[in-house]
Amino acid sequence: MADIKLTLVVACALIDADKRVLLAQRPEGKALAGLWEFPGGKIEPGERPEQTLIRELHEEIGITVSEPCLAPLTFASHAYETFHLLMPLYICRRWEGLAVAREGQNLAWVRASKLRDYPMPPADIPLLPHLMDLLL
Ligand code: C5P
Repeated sequence: MADIKLTLVVACALIDADKRVLLAQRPEGKALAGLWEFPGGKIEPGERPEQTLIRELHEEIGITVSEPCLAPLTFASHAYETFHLLMPLYICRRWEGLAVAREGQNLAWVRASKLRDYPMPPADIPLLPHLMDLLL
């Protein structure tokens, strides 16, 4: 069997007081440009997923999250052509600071009923029913 590259990414559904979820649009020049995803990023060697999220959410959208505010919800597992993506999805309802796009990406706060209007990477789509169960 050929070696399969495993890519570990962690993502977070930030849920605001109006039960809206933050989506970020992947910028031009990146794989899957234009698609909307839950913010997050690659888990660096030695990091726990919670540490990755704290780092990435600060770098990408300028908010400060602490570990007790992060709760695991489910996993995405998707076979892309050149790698297998394993991506836990966390939820977070409390953070400090206002979410601003620090890397030129578009951001959108989206109600559960509208989430399917935002085209997403194939790995993210199976996550939606889990999130909707939580929001309805
Ligand atoms: O964000 P980054 O480019 O580092 O993610 C690595 C890969 O993981 C992407 O090329 C994309 O294929 C996949 N990914 C995904 N869904 C996400 C985040 C990343 O499918 N929400």
